[in-house]
Amino acid sequence: MRIDILTLFPQMFQSPLSSGIFKRASDRKLVEIIVRNIRDYTHDKHHTVDDYPYGGGAGMILKPEPIFEAVEAIKSEIRLEEEISALPVVLLTPQGRLFSQQIALELSGYNHLILICGHYEGVDERVREHMVTDEISIGDYVLSGGELAAMVVVDAVVRLVPGVLGSSASPIDDSHTTGLLEYPQYTRPSVYRGWAVPEVLLSGNHAQIAKWHREQAVIRTAVRRPELLDRVNLSSEERQLVEGLQKH
Ligand code: ADE
Repeated sequence: MRIDILTLFPQMFQSPLSSGIFKRASDRKLVEIIVRNIRDYTHDKHHTVDDYPYGGGAGMILKPEPIFEAVEAIKSEIRLEEEISALPVVLLTPQGRLFSQQIALELSGYNHLILICGHYEGVDERVREHMVTDEISIGDYVLSGGELAAMVVVDAVVRLVPGVLGSSASPIDDSHTTGLLEYPQYTRPSVYRGWAVPEVLLSGNHAQIAKWHREQAVIRTAVRRPELLDRVNLSSEERQLVEGLQKH
């Protein structure tokens, strides 16, 4: 998978991309992440990337030319027309669709993505209308730029690329993958400061353990994020369990 990130602050990506799963994924040639400075696609002496909004108003707007030229430069490196037309060009913006595990899964299915980090008061609307194919928000709050949002998206997507996580099974039980929050986990020691690990986990009985995991995931979701249960198929016993919890 290849991800091109367009930003005014490439240095913000240096440390995150050179540690943890990103380093592992790029060392293994599973993912290539290319960070490009939007300023490099300007032609004037001052490398101008922003300008005042027409009609007045606060703040500055990202100019269309450098963004169009940067995306076109990336596209010109691709030979197949089908690949160009399928290539998602994603703008990070608080106005986008709300990011979720489902969207991470969707994006992880592409072999190439372009992410554009918005800045200042926004980007010229023509970028949205004629270049961008998708807009993503990571939550209902306003960041000072799209960089941290792009990192969130890249992290959630890259860890779903096959081979990036150590064990191929590990994303399957993740909170949100099953539609449920993840069950509680424990490691050694089995008793710490008098607090014991639930006995069933030490029993070696895999069927019992699987049952406990599922039950705990249902309980945890019912208590913390009950609205998530609307989209989960629960057995009739599980429904009863949830109703029991809701009475308390
Ligand atoms: N840029 C500024 N705020 C943002 C948000 N919440 N999500 C994505 N991009 C952003």
